[in-house]
Amino acid sequence: MSETPYIPIFPDLKHKCAAITGGGGAICTAIARGLSRSGVRVAIWDLSAEAAEATASGIRDEGGDAVGIKCDVLKKNDVGAAFNATMDRFGQIDILVNGAGGSRKEATTSDTLSFADITPDALMDTVALNYTG
Ligand SMILES: NC(=O)c1ccc[n+]([C@@H]2O[C@H](COP(=O)([O-])OP(=O)(O)OC[C@H]3O[C@@H](n4cnc5c(N)ncnc54)[C@H](O)[C@@H]3O)[C@@H](O)[C@H]2O)c1
Repeated sequence: MSETPYIPIFPDLKHKCAAITGGGGAICTAIARGLSRSGVRVAIWDLSAEAAEATASGIRDEGGDAVGIKCDVLKKNDVGAAFNATMDRFGQIDILVNGAGGSRKEATTSDTLSFADITPDALMDTVALNYTG
């Protein structure tokens, strides 16, 4: 099957810089690639250093400018360090994609976990990851 031709949808974003949390994940890797193909330099922030670097190196292989940075968005110090590393590398951040998130087993009903057995802590951890982060 031939690949769908890429049509730039953000032509006016050349030379901008994006910080993308959860950038090592499925959706944000695609967003990062799309932004990069429109000339955006991308900083991939992810809890997983390996996932961040995999996305960044894939973009560099395509000729884009990307850096992978390990960052837990629930830790203020991590976010500060990721911000500083991005500013050191690109000198600006114009776009923020808040993609870090997802479900947690402890907060998801299953055959072995009923809704009533989900603990407030597990629920609030999920809220923190998806909203506060
Ligand atoms: N896939 C879907 O159908 C869907 C639907 C609605 C919303 N979403 C939301 O879109 C976002 C991306 O979804 P996805 O399917 O690409 O998920 P994914 O699991 O592929 O990617 C999520 C990424 O976030 C990272 N991450 C997790 N916790 C983190 C933390 N504390 N700090 C930094 N990074 C962290 C993970 O390492 C992972 O790389 C999530 O927020 C998800 O909740 C997804």
